[in-house]
Amino acid sequence: MKKRILTGITTTGTPHIGNYLGAIKPALKLAGPETESFFFLADYHALIKQTDASLIEASVKNIALAWLSAGLDSEHSNFYRQSDIPEVHELTWILSCSAAKGLLNRAHAYKAVVAENEASNADDDKAISMGLFSYPVLMAADILLYDANIIPVGKDQLQHIEMTRDVASRFHAKIGKTFVIPEAEIQHQTMYVPGTNGGKMSKSQNNIINLFLPDKQLRKQIMSIATDSTPMEDSKDWKSCNCFAIFTLVADEQQIADMKDKYERGDYGYGHAKQALFELLIDKFSTERTRYNHYMNNLSEIDEALAIGAEKAKVVADTVLKRVRTKVGY
Ligand code: TRP
Repeated sequence: MKKRILTGITTTGTPHIGNYLGAIKPALKLAGPETESFFFLADYHALIKQTDASLIEASVKNIALAWLSAGLDSEHSNFYRQSDIPEVHELTWILSCSAAKGLLNRAHAYKAVVAENEASNADDDKAISMGLFSYPVLMAADILLYDANIIPVGKDQLQHIEMTRDVASRFHAKIGKTFVIPEAEIQHQTMYVPGTNGGKMSKSQNNIINLFLPDKQLRKQIMSIATDSTPMEDSKDWKSCNCFAIFTLVADEQQIADMKDKYERGDYGYGHAKQALFELLIDKFSTERTRYNHYMNNLSEIDEALAIGAEKAKVVADTVLKRVRTKVGY
């Protein structure tokens, strides 16, 4: 049987070049013809942080656009919205009955809020919903519902995959073998991507580079990258330069070596480096940018792709859920 690759992205915010290069592209690369792939928009997970329906909707659209522009082939993969398969909640409940509360107490995302509360002398449970607490169980259900083998994720999600394995194993110990035990495939490219101001690139920091902007706006974002005030003529330190760091995410070795050389030689201003970065992005991502514009002008194609994806994913989900229901005596 073909290996199943599965991953999801929470639908809060707009994906930026870091998500694109670190998560979306590598996941698509992993999902070759010898695999079956499941890529979904985790809009139930989004509800933990985001309750504005219009923002969730906008994020679903932007993330779907990013996947499709990156080259996701919706015919040959299962591309769907999590909320189109509400069966995931039945599995979430069943798994909740095997998940140890003590295990969930150790989840980083939950612990971080508890730590903040302690630091500010607030009640430990302040601002903690059951959704935040049991987030890893929903994630386990996302994975186990599709018999997924390989889960490409960033390092920050590794704990959740380990929890998924733990919850499935406990279920097996109590009730008998039922699930495929998944493995994480850590996406090392989810390396540190600096934003235009030098901090970690993040929508909330307002420092992102959005590859899909029209030329002029993209150029403006790139020109806004913070650099130091070394004069044009002087040699520059590429090691500490944001523009250089972003350039290296996309450029090939020769281009990187040339750029280092220019920095060191001097008579090369940051404006030149930014222009080179802009041209590189336009050149490297021309296919993706064209696809993006196509979908922007034909938004209904996104909904159509997701509707077909949901139908296909549901067939798999129903089969697995039936197996689980039989095991637990329904
Ligand atoms: N929690 C993941 C994130 O925030 C998104 C996600 C939800 C996911 N369910 C998943 C990732 C299942 C992989 C597998 O990035």
